[in-house]
Amino acid sequence: MDLLQRIKSGEARVGIIGLGYVGLPLAVEFAKAGLHVVGYDVDQSKVDSLTAGKSYIPDVPSEELAAVVKAGTVRATTDQREVADVDVIDICVPTPLRKTRDPDLSYVVKAIEATAAVLRKGQLVILESTTYPGTTEEVAQPALEAGGLKVGRDIYLAFSPERVDPGNQTYLTKNIPKVVGGIDQTSTDLAAALYERVVDKVIKVANTRVAEMVKLLENTFRAVNIGLVNEIALMCHRLDIDVWEVIDAAGTKPFGFMPFYPGPGLGGHCIPIDPFYLSWKARQSGFECRFIELAGHVNGAMPEFVVERVTDALNSAKKSINGSKIHLLGVAYKKDVGDVRESPALDILELLHRRGATLTYSDPFVPSLKIDSLTLKAVDLLKTDADCAVICTNHSSFDYDAITKKFPLIVDTRNALRGREGKGIFRL
Ligand SMILES: NC(=O)c1ccc[n+]([C@@H]2O[C@H](COP(=O)([O-])OP(=O)(O)OC[C@H]3O[C@@H](n4cnc5c(N)ncnc54)[C@H](O)[C@@H]3O)[C@@H](O)[C@H]2O)c1
Repeated sequence: MDLLQRIKSGEARVGIIGLGYVGLPLAVEFAKAGLHVVGYDVDQSKVDSLTAGKSYIPDVPSEELAAVVKAGTVRATTDQREVADVDVIDICVPTPLRKTRDPDLSYVVKAIEATAAVLRKGQLVILESTTYPGTTEEVAQPALEAGGLKVGRDIYLAFSPERVDPGNQTYLTKNIPKVVGGIDQTSTDLAAALYERVVDKVIKVANTRVAEMVKLLENTFRAVNIGLVNEIALMCHRLDIDVWEVIDAAGTKPFGFMPFYPGPGLGGHCIPIDPFYLSWKARQSGFECRFIELAGHVNGAMPEFVVERVTDALNSAKKSINGSKIHLLGVAYKKDVGDVRESPALDILELLHRRGATLTYSDPFVPSLKIDSLTLKAVDLLKTDADCAVICTNHSSFDYDAITKKFPLIVDTRNALRGREGKGIFRL
């Protein structure tokens, strides 16, 4: 039976390399659709957790994971040789930036090498990690073909960007349309057929470069619009205008406007990083991405502005940062998730620490935190006696009435205290 038939009949076996925020939900969706999935990860603790049916990703309920593990449709391993038997290999490893803000493809390269080591005729390889246009063609294809198998003749290769939005209860893997582009038409068709088993809508595009660029357009769009609204927030502060009221009123326009909100800065593994994959690649062709650089500059300066607002707040009580007790509410990069990667709260903590503040934090999703010079454990917010609180992340479970009563000074970077007024409340 050929691969297309195996996919359509549900007999295809899928190997997922990288079982994180992207790989685990995907593995569970494939398994729920009846496909046999083997997940390979270098992190033993994730493999152990999956094997025990315990989810470590908030969007994947443990009951769902335990059910597919028990049914034998999904299992995990740290042995790369176990992906040799599968029909499809789906790569979901991290794509961070180096300190120089250049793409760090080392995880992708290692995953491709692991794939190449076990590759056999008839397999389909899909890259899902966000990366610059050309990666699949220029990095993955030559490495996979080095052993003599040719894409389009012996094996198939496609790129399909992952669009999962951790913490989003409305849009999950199944109802987020999936974009697919292959090196050749057969690769596109095979990858599309696979996703059609688990995703409501699949969009085929001309090739891998288009598919790679789609994801970078989406994330650059967000980074630039957040940069714009952050600059508008700084401007409104100077002009003494309430930026939140402005955005709410502008948001009533039924066309041609989409609200974005200011905040303490960008966080997570995508928006602060992905646009720089694009600008790096464009620079190779002598093209400067001015919007990306400018948005990066504005967004990157927001933690400094938050610290300025903390200074204003303390100043109003004749206090200074040096010697004050400051409590951060929420350190995850966005509401209702536990991910602290690139979180602006880390920069804010570091800046306040350097200025001599005594720091505490609370976050229901982040029990402890380590940044350069600081190790902190989350504390009960009602048991602190801080001079000033900073709402960095507007988690739904925070009791904002209690927070308003508890702290004499509050810097609210998310408009979480919407509708509450008070001399001690300092909005962004
Ligand atoms: N997190 C998101 O919201 C999101 C959304 C869309 C796209 N993406 C993209 O998806 C990709 C993965 O992101 P993530 O958030 O799932 O990362 P993650 O860190 O949560 O998961 C990656 C997993 O890959 C494993 N890994 C690393 N190297 C490996 C190797 N050589 N072999 C096997 N396993 C390996 C890690 O141990 C980890 O478990 C990135 O390119 C990211 O930009 C992420």
